[in-house]
Amino acid sequence: MQAKQDVVKVGIVGLGTVGGGAFRLLQENAHEIARRTGRPIEVVHIGARSDRPDVDTSQVKVSRDVFAVVQDPQVDIVVEVMGGTTTARELVTQAILAGKHVVTANKALLAEHGNELFALAERHGVYIAFEAAVAGGVPIIKVLREGLAANRIDALAGIINGTGNYILSEMRDKGRDFQDVLKEAQALGYAEADPTFDVEGIDAAHKLTILASLAFGIPLQFSKVYTEGISRLAVIDVAYASELGYSIKHLGLARRTPAGIELRVHPTLIPSDRLISHVHGVKNAVLVQSHPVGPTLYYGAGAGAGPTASAIVADLIDVVRAMREGHGGRVPHLAFQPDALYDTPVLPVEAVHTAYYLRLQANDRPGVLAEVTRILSDQGISIEAILQKPAHAAGQVPVIIVTKIVQERAMNQALARMEALEDIVDRVVKIRLENLDA
Ligand code: HSE
Repeated sequence: MQAKQDVVKVGIVGLGTVGGGAFRLLQENAHEIARRTGRPIEVVHIGARSDRPDVDTSQVKVSRDVFAVVQDPQVDIVVEVMGGTTTARELVTQAILAGKHVVTANKALLAEHGNELFALAERHGVYIAFEAAVAGGVPIIKVLREGLAANRIDALAGIINGTGNYILSEMRDKGRDFQDVLKEAQALGYAEADPTFDVEGIDAAHKLTILASLAFGIPLQFSKVYTEGISRLAVIDVAYASELGYSIKHLGLARRTPAGIELRVHPTLIPSDRLISHVHGVKNAVLVQSHPVGPTLYYGAGAGAGPTASAIVADLIDVVRAMREGHGGRVPHLAFQPDALYDTPVLPVEAVHTAYYLRLQANDRPGVLAEVTRILSDQGISIEAILQKPAHAAGQVPVIIVTKIVQERAMNQALARMEALEDIVDRVVKIRLENLDA
């Protein structure tokens, strides 16, 4: 075994689900890890605002002031798993300025401030590793940055928020109440500190921002992601979609088009026979369409202590290996060389092309459907399927229309005209639909 001076010393900031999991994993697998890195990894300092009865930190220095960890001269690598974007940003900045490498699971921090943090790290010759930031235990960062490095990536579609997928799965399969399922996900350590990040799609948008940069070689642009959550999704639409042969999933979609890049997070109908439509519960999956390999799918646990710790510790191993090899051994943070990132425009949502599921509530009168289909044809929108359900309110019928692909702007114009019709009651429900074929 190596001499004591070869030990790599790590500081962990944050002792929640992820920090506790990483600390435990480093101890449990210490021997195997040292065989992989050539140098043992030891946690020497933990920054945590409170203790955890289930994590034995008696052999480690623990500070309530999290900045004490980055200021500790013996710490070589800082693991930032405290979350948030204010203190965490300051902490990571200080770590970089102190010449320490950083491993982080903080997708919000990177999506919002990653451009500046990566540039700072590059100037100071240190590395920020972030496999745990997206899809927990699924090594999708490494896939995009290294495994698919020879490919031109054209599109990706991911179920990248475990909590949201778990809620959708339980609602659909067991008819469970939204709040009740959310509480369970929180208790299991899957949900964000602020669960609106999960149910309103913000967490997925953070992750999509990171994936899109790695896929297309563009700067991180969180503010340009179109984001819609699952909180307004009605169970009746899940049932009608299923009748038409579709599942509704909350997807993050990034697509390269001749006009620019589509970046969007929203509930999406996908054909029920696609592999990704069978991803249930807290599991994540990312479908990548690239040339020449074609479609590839990556699936696994996207949240929780063990899977996220797996990604954190893998990053630590990478950093330790790179420390042995010198700076030349590292891949660029965003997969492409920093001076080769393109300023490709991100398209506003009105400019995206997709198919749609529409649900209208119509007065049961002759000619109403003819008016609706005329509006669609005026806008150049082709109908793929149409379904009229028996009346469930006096004199009113639900009509479900599935369209072919059209630009969102044309669809919004058609919807405004439909909603202005006297015989269309309520707003029209609009859910985007992707066939996810090549
Ligand atoms: N809240 C996140 C999720 C945790 O449910 O996927 C993992 O990033």
